[in-house]
Amino acid sequence: MPISTYADFFMNLKSRVALITGSSQGIGKDIAISLLKTGAKVVLRSRREKTLRQLQEKLSKENEEIFYAPGDSTKEADVQEIISKTIKRFGKLDILVNNVGGAIQYGDIFYLNAEDWINAFHSML
Ligand SMILES: NC(=O)c1ccc[n+]([C@@H]2O[C@H](COP(=O)([O-])OP(=O)(O)OC[C@H]3O[C@@H](n4cnc5c(N)ncnc54)[C@H](OP(=O)(O)O)[C@@H]3O)[C@@H](O)[C@H]2O)c1
Repeated sequence: MPISTYADFFMNLKSRVALITGSSQGIGKDIAISLLKTGAKVVLRSRREKTLRQLQEKLSKENEEIFYAPGDSTKEADVQEIISKTIKRFGKLDILVNNVGGAIQYGDIFYLNAEDWINAFHSML
């Protein structure tokens, strides 16, 4: 198969289903908006229900292929739930933008304690 066919497959995001964690604000929100503009179907995810609902209401005026489900990325039951809801709504999950995570505090790496590392690990896995 020619390389251009692979490129088309991977670069064409239309109708792909994307779950973006931490998408109620900041970088995750901008990624969600960008993916929606490409024609992808988008699932918004963070802990604050009201913020997610307001964002979904705003963005769905342009593209209805979006829904939200509040939950905590560090809790396995919540992660299982969002995947089930995504499959139920869109039938598949193509793209995971694992945006929640990182160090709890910024600065010198040697000032992070074990709890910081464990929290970062759980929020990304
Ligand atoms: N901004 C930067 O300069 C920068 C630089 C390097 C790396 N990063 C990394 O890029 C990512 C996004 O940064 P940002 O600046 O856009 O962050 P932000 O503005 O603080 O937004 C974080 C988002 O994640 C959600 N969130 C936080 N903890 C969560 C959890 N346990 N479960 C589900 N959702 C959670 C928040 O909503 P709720 O509070 O409602 O859950 C919010 O939507 C982070 O991983 C950060 O470490 C950022």
